Amino acid sequence: ADSYVAAVYEHRVILNPNPRVPVSRREALIHMQKNLDIYEEQAAKAAQQKAKILVFPEDGIHGFNFTRSSISGYMETIPDPQEESWNPCTEPDKYNNTEVLQRLSCMARRNNLYLVANMPDLQPCPLKTAPSTCPTDGHWQFNTNVAFNSDGLLVARYHKQNLYYEESFDTPPKLELITFDTPFAGKFGLIICFDILFHDPTVALLLFQGVRQLVFSTAWMNALPLLDSIQFHRAFSLGANVTVLSSNLRNEKHRMTGSGIYTPFSATFYHAVNRGPEEGRLLVTKVPVLGPVGVNNVGDSMSPVATESDHCHRGRCADSPSPGSSFTGTMAHDLYNFVLLNETQGNLRVCDSTFCCHLQYKWTAHNKSKELYALGAFAGMHNGSIRYAVQVCAVVRCAGLEASSCGQHVLEAESKMDFLLEATFQTDYVYPSVLMNCMEVKQPDKLEKTTGGRVAMKYSNLTGGLITACLYGRMYQLD
Ligand SMILES: *[C@@H]1O[C@H](CO)[C@@H](O)[C@H](O)[C@H]1NC(C)=O
Ligand SMILES: *[C@@H]1O[C@H](CO)[C@@H](O)[C@H](O)[C@H]1NC(C)=O
Ligand SMILES: *[C@@H]1O[C@H](CO)[C@@H](O)[C@H](O)[C@H]1NC(C)=O
Ligand SMILES: *[C@@H]1O[C@H](CO)[C@@H](O)[C@H](O)[C@H]1NC(C)=O
Ligand SMILES: *[C@@H]1O[C@H](CO)[C@@H](O)[C@H](O)[C@H]1NC(C)=O
Ligand SMILES: *[C@@H]1O[C@H](CO)[C@@H](O)[C@H](O)[C@H]1NC(C)=O
Ligand SMILES: *[C@@H]1O[C@H](CO)[C@@H](O)[C@H](O)[C@H]1NC(C)=O
Repeated sequence: ADSYVAAVYEHRVILNPNPRVPVSRREALIHMQKNLDIYEEQAAKAAQQKAKILVFPEDGIHGFNFTRSSISGYMETIPDPQEESWNPCTEPDKYNNTEVLQRLSCMARRNNLYLVANMPDLQPCPLKTAPSTCPTDGHWQFNTNVAFNSDGLLVARYHKQNLYYEESFDTPPKLELITFDTPFAGKFGLIICFDILFHDPTVALLLFQGVRQLVFSTAWMNALPLLDSIQFHRAFSLGANVTVLSSNLRNEKHRMTGSGIYTPFSATFYHAVNRGPEEGRLLVTKVPVLGPVGVNNVGDSMSPVATESDHCHRGRCADSPSPGSSFTGTMAHDLYNFVLLNETQGNLRVCDSTFCCHLQYKWTAHNKSKELYALGAFAGMHNGSIRYAVQVCAVVRCAGLEASSCGQHVLEAESKMDFLLEATFQTDYVYPSVLMNCMEVKQPDKLEKTTGGRVAMKYSNLTGGLITACLYGRMYQLD
């Protein structure tokens, strides 16, 4: 009982071609049944492979890009499993307008597995008790994950906290930290997509609920060079030392692909690379049960650590290139300071004010008339319309041979190096990643975290070209 079989399904969603035009409940059901038919087949395949839990992606049943009113035919009112016990499969008449819940519940029951799926939830608001948070049309609409146990009982309902430009949905009036228990692996926590970048609910689940296993449904739009799906989701699992069951949508137009089953020890993943026929993909693998650890596992300090080690790093690296050789460039909408990796091996440093990144590198395969690389540092608020604070060190392949192309979107690389990337962060939450040619993520040889915020990632014997090596620090305390 120290391991179990987990499954995630990357679903090529069948979309409503006109999501902004309202449809009847009947039309919405006809549309959703097409996606549910595929879910049904995949649930049977997962069960054949002895999966105990199966996760489906965000927006996988209804699609996306609805308006507040055009989604109405797609919504059901999902009862709160913390207040009542309901098995939609065996008690279908208890509530009207719950066809999707019933079908998911029967799918879990028939296949004897835990099942998590995403759907829109309509909740009337108690106008008397919550007039200030209630939308003017008298109800909330939530982007919601539901979990069923292997009998079909609805065991959890989670409303997404961090919406990403979703005009059809409301932010829940209060933060929800939602978990469910299983007989095969204990507790799982629920998060959806953009949530993974924020303290609430993601880090709060780990800290305050002792969660070690996250169920993560997403419709992740890949954003190279730092936030590709498998790159960041794998990095989160490693950095937080937890298991992440990550199910992404498949949609070429919106750059959605990349799902995985990530544990602190292993990664099983899929990332569509070629523009072949768009198909879904079921991943099934055996993973270890992660027992509860002290609540301090992912770091107990939310306050900035002392900067003493910054000081000694600056001293130690006095022989590194002078700041004069660095240049600035935009990466992921932020202004990075970069230095080029233009020798056969080297010891480089680049800083953004007092935050400094160090790289020791040695090429094992490199044609400098073909590929250029740079080391970049950034500390501050991410310059997006949704802002959050980061400290990031990244080695990237530049898109061309000009320094001005460093930080751009790159999909391929041939150069290989052995390296040690390190920095001293003012946060305990640092997510490490190595992304290689053909969209593969690699486990670092060595990952070292020492007190004072120093993180070092060592890698040798890369089997493919390096696209990005990154230490992504989240400064939740400054958000
Ligand atoms: C959503 O719909 C609007 C209006 O039709 C369109 O401009 C936008 O590109 C769509 N966005 C996505 C993510 O499909
Ligand atoms: C379901 O709808 C029918 C027809 O409108 C109604 O008679 C019945 O009371 C409803 N059942 C529940 C549980 O609300
Ligand atoms: C990470 O998790 C594993 C498995 O629970 C545990 O053995 C290990 O001590 C943890 N590592 C850290 C640094 O907390
Ligand atoms: C590497 O770049 C630095 C400036 O960024 C320059 O001073 C140095 O001469 C370059 N070395 C080579 C071998 O091109
Ligand atoms: C920050 O975002 C704004 C708005 O998108 C953009 O105009 C500006 O160039 C960005 N800054 C950097 C450094 O990319
Ligand atoms: C390096 O790349 C250039 C340009 O593509 C090519 O002409 C040259 O033959 C390559 N050198 C080696 C050693 O592969
Ligand atoms: C790298 O590969 C070489 C040759 O296969 C091997 O001798 C060496 O031990 C490897 N190094 C590491 C750190 O795995």
